[in-house]
Amino acid sequence: MQWSDEFNVGCPGIDAQHKELVEKVNELERLLACGEADDENFSDAILFVVEYARTHFRDEEELMQKMQYPGFVAHRKLHDQMVNHLANFLKDMQSGNGGTFSELVSYLYVWIQAHVLIEDRKFGDYYSLNAEKGL
Ligand SMILES: [Fe+2]
Ligand SMILES: [Fe+2]
Repeated sequence: MQWSDEFNVGCPGIDAQHKELVEKVNELERLLACGEADDENFSDAILFVVEYARTHFRDEEELMQKMQYPGFVAHRKLHDQMVNHLANFLKDMQSGNGGTFSELVSYLYVWIQAHVLIEDRKFGDYYSLNAEKGL
């Protein structure tokens, strides 16, 4: 997934983390594509990405709360759902109940893209508006 300016939501800290997140998922894809990863170190790499995503969600939520973003609760719910989905996916994969690494990477791309372009952007607009007001 190529980073492009349309992914910028207008909040520098958030944008930097999104860029980093995309870069980490790209690394996963490269690992997968060159067949270098065995199951175990790929799992480690995924956990690293999941951890990064959680940190990002926490930071984003903190900023939303600080700025009294009206969509905060609904937005946090989307983050929680994503983290739960990932946890379940990994659990199913580890217990042999289906799901592949490449499905997981595709899911990450689709989710990140849609979430940033639609939901994080809504917050970005709110952020820009209120930053102008000096809040
Ligand atoms: Fe978000
Ligand atoms: Fe985000």
